Amino acid sequence: MANQRESRVIINACFVIGIACFLTMNGVECNPVGARRSLADETVFDVMQYDAKADGKTDDATAFIQAWRAACESNGTAKVLIPSGKNFMAGEVVFAGPCTAQAPITIEIQGNISASSDPSAYSDGAWIMFEKVENIVITGGGTINGQGSNVWQYSSGDTPLAVSLVLEEVGNGEMHGLNFVDSMGFHIKVTDSRNISLWNLAITAPGKSPNTDGIHLSNSTNVNITDSVIGTGDDCVSIGHGNNNILVSGITCGPGHGISIGSLGKREEETSVKGVTVINCTLTGTTNGARIKTYHESPQINATSIVFQDIVMNQVQHPIIIDQHYDSKKRPQQSSVKISDARFINIKGTTVSPIPVILNCSSTFPCEGIELEQIDLVPFGTIGPLKSECSNAQIILKGNLNPPAPTACI
Ligand SMILES: *[C@@H]1O[C@H](CO)[C@@H](O)[C@H](O)[C@H]1NC(C)=O
Ligand SMILES: *[C@@H]1O[C@H](CO)[C@@H](O)[C@H](O)[C@H]1NC(C)=O
Ligand SMILES: *[C@@H]1O[C@H](CO)[C@@H](O)[C@H](O)[C@H]1NC(C)=O
Ligand SMILES: *[C@@H]1O[C@H](CO)[C@@H](O)[C@H](O)[C@H]1NC(C)=O
Ligand SMILES: *[C@@H]1O[C@H](CO)[C@@H](O)[C@H](O)[C@H]1NC(C)=O
Ligand SMILES: *[C@@H]1O[C@H](CO)[C@@H](O)[C@H](O)[C@H]1NC(C)=O
Ligand SMILES: *[C@@H]1O[C@H](CO)[C@@H](O)[C@H](O)[C@H]1NC(C)=O
Ligand SMILES: *[C@@H]1O[C@H](CO)[C@@H](O)[C@H](O)[C@H]1NC(C)=O
Repeated sequence: MANQRESRVIINACFVIGIACFLTMNGVECNPVGARRSLADETVFDVMQYDAKADGKTDDATAFIQAWRAACESNGTAKVLIPSGKNFMAGEVVFAGPCTAQAPITIEIQGNISASSDPSAYSDGAWIMFEKVENIVITGGGTINGQGSNVWQYSSGDTPLAVSLVLEEVGNGEMHGLNFVDSMGFHIKVTDSRNISLWNLAITAPGKSPNTDGIHLSNSTNVNITDSVIGTGDDCVSIGHGNNNILVSGITCGPGHGISIGSLGKREEETSVKGVTVINCTLTGTTNGARIKTYHESPQINATSIVFQDIVMNQVQHPIIIDQHYDSKKRPQQSSVKISDARFINIKGTTVSPIPVILNCSSTFPCEGIELEQIDLVPFGTIGPLKSECSNAQIILKGNLNPPAPTACI
C-alpha cells in the first residue's frame, strides 16, 4: 500500500502547477488533471493538509471546500478525509460537481463536525451540501452536530433553518455509518436526485425540537432508506412531492411524528408521488405512525402505489392516518391531491388514542383503493374501545381488522 501522508504532501505541491500526482507500486507519477487511474491508486485529500484547525472554534469550511475541489478535480480515485479524534467547526460548506475524478469519490467523515450557530452563515438553507455530483460515497462513523438548540427559537414555517446535509442533483450516491445530532432544520434532505441509498444512520434530536425531520425526500427517483435509527422532533422520514420508487425499511422511529408521505400540495409547482414502500419498521411513542398528509387548496397531483407493511406501533397516537385537511383554516378549499392504491398491511401494536385509524380524504378528489389488511391495534392503558373513522374514501378490506373497519366508508 502506498504511504498516504507522502502522497498528500506531493499532491499539494503539484496542484500549485496544475498537475495531479499519484503513488503507484513503482513510485510517484504525475499526470495532467483529469486523467483516470485504477482504484488501487486512491489518493487521500486530508482536510488537515488544507489548513483545517479542528480546534472547535475556527471555521474550517474553507479547508473542507479546498480538499473537496482538489479531490473533485483530480484524475484518479479520490477520498476526502475528515480525520478521527478531532472536533471541527464549520459554517456553510458546498461540495459542488461536476467532477473529473474517477468514480466514486469518497467523503470519509471520521471526526466530529459542529455547525456554526450564526444563522446568517447559511445562504441557501443548507449547512453541508452536495450539489450536481455523480457517484459519491459519504461515510466514516463521525458525528454531524447541527447545534440546533442554539437556534431552534428562530424556527418558523416561512424561513426554515439550515438542513444539516443536502444531496441536490446527485446521481448514484450512498451514505452510511454516520451520526446526525440536533440539526437546525431537517437533518438530511435528498432533492432532485437519482439512485440514492442511505443506510446505517443514527439521527437524534429532542422530541420537542421544531421541524427537525430525520430524512426528507423531494423530486427524487430510486431512493432506499434502510436500517437506521431515527428519533427527532418531527417526521422520522418525510416523502414530499415528485418522488418515485422509494423504499423505506428497517427504520426504528421515535420520538417524532412518524413516517409520512407529504405534506403534499403546498406549492403550485409540485408533482406527483408514485411507488413508495415502507416496510419492516418499528415506531415508538410517535404522534403518527403511517401517515399521508396533503394540503387544502393544492395543485392537482397524485399519490399512488403506496404500501405500508409489517409495521409495529408502540404507544403511537395515530398509527394509520390519511389527513387531507392540512392547513384547512387558512385554505378553505378541499385538497386536489388524489390518493389511490394505498395499502396498509400487517400493522400491529399499541395505540394511545381511541381512534387509531383515520382515513380523512378530500371531498373533491376522494381516495380510491385504500386497502386495510390484517390490522391489529390494541389500547395502551385504559382508553376504552377503539374505532376507525373514514370520510370520502373507497376502501378494500382484507383479513382481521382490529379496530373494526370504519362503517362510514363501507
Ligand atoms: C489521466 O491519466 C491517464 C493515465 O496517465 C491519461 O491516459 C489520461 O490522458 C489522463 N486524462 C486527462 C483528462 O488528463
Ligand atoms: C465526537 O462526538 C461523539 C458523540 O457526540 C463523542 O462521543 C466523541 O467524544 C466526540 N469526539 C471527540 C474527538 O471529541
Ligand atoms: C440509476 O440506476 C439505473 C439502474 O441501475 C440506471 O439505469 C440509471 O442509469 C442510473 N441513473 C443514474 C442517474 O445514474
Ligand atoms: C426535479 O428535478 C429535476 C432534476 O432531476 C429538475 O430538472 C426539475 O426542475 C425538478 N422539478 C421540480 C418541480 O423541482
Ligand atoms: C433499493 O433496493 C432495491 C431492493 O433491494 C434494489 O433492487 C435497488 O437496486 C436499490 N436501489 C438503490 C438505489 O440502492
Ligand atoms: C427488519 O428490520 C430489523 C431491524 O429493524 C432487522 O433486524 C430485520 O432483519 C429486518 N427483517 C427483514 C425481513 O427485513
Ligand atoms: C393524475 O392521475 C390522473 C388519472 O390517472 C391523470 O389523468 C393525471 O394526469 C394525473 N396527474 C398528474 C399531475 O400526474
Ligand atoms: C377530518 O378533517 C376535518 C377537517 O380538518 C376535521 O374537522 C375532522 O374532525 C376530521 N375527522 C377525523 C376523524 O379526524
